[in-house]
Amino acid sequence: MNFLKVNNIRSLLNWGEDALNRAGVPSPKVDAEWLMCYVLDCERIDLYLGDIEVGPAEEESYKRYIEKRSARYPLQYIIGKANFMGFDFILNEDVLIPRPETESLVEEALKICHTSLRGVPPLAGRRSNLNILDLCTGSGCIAISLAKLIPEAELVATDISEPALNVARRNAELHGVTDRVTFLQGDLFDALKPLGDVKFNIIVSKPPYIKTGDLESLPPEVQYEPRLALDGGEDGGRFYNEIYSAYRDYIGEPIHLFVEKSSQAII
Ligand SMILES: C[S@@+](CC[C@H](N)C(=O)[O-])C[C@H]1O[C@@H](n2cnc3c(N)ncnc32)[C@H](O)[C@@H]1O
Repeated sequence: MNFLKVNNIRSLLNWGEDALNRAGVPSPKVDAEWLMCYVLDCERIDLYLGDIEVGPAEEESYKRYIEKRSARYPLQYIIGKANFMGFDFILNEDVLIPRPETESLVEEALKICHTSLRGVPPLAGRRSNLNILDLCTGSGCIAISLAKLIPEAELVATDISEPALNVARRNAELHGVTDRVTFLQGDLFDALKPLGDVKFNIIVSKPPYIKTGDLESLPPEVQYEPRLALDGGEDGGRFYNEIYSAYRDYIGEPIHLFVEKSSQAII
């Protein structure tokens, strides 16, 4: 009996992997497994333990998701989440899918909080000496990870997209940090207007940085992500220029600015 169940799930997984492989999906085996886990609401290890059966309704859902993924629709949008810094973030098409390389930006900010900002008195009018601004927050993955990892930090996270901020707010709730992360909508630093004259100890940002002319040649999965999250203008530098020309008005001494540029965290 067990053998039949294993056989049932194994043949479906093989079928899924094969379909994804033919569609040119970069990691067909892993994606076929993730989609099965999503359908069965189980962990990947459970797929190999032999005590799960795939019923007709589940088989149909699985086939539908494999079809969707074969059209190169991103796995993370299908399953509605992605892991970043060890935390799961809710996702939909209103936000960029968090990238693993952005974790180094968070790690750099963490290092500063644990070293050069340790013991530094709060800036004027502030309770915490770890006030962090995340510009262009998207799903909120950077701000919320920092809030989770630094319990004394207070964050402001901004985005021009209200739908993106709605996703970020849901993520803050999911991770229990709504009391320490304030979300504001607006164009870069303009979003801070409601706060008056305000300065931060650290500014982090992963702004859109793809050259407009390069957008069409990006992988098919990326074409489903919001254009607003990708398009960095003609030379890809529109947001860097705006951030670099204004950040000094919003940061205290010592200056800690971390901006991701073409998949590299830079200071
Ligand atoms: C590259 S995504 C980064 C999202 C998130 N920080 C991450 O690492 O996944 C850039 C974000 O900038 C937002 N954005 C685009 N133009 C903006 C602007 N003028 N002001 C503020 N945010 C903007 C987009 O809506 C998008 O959520």
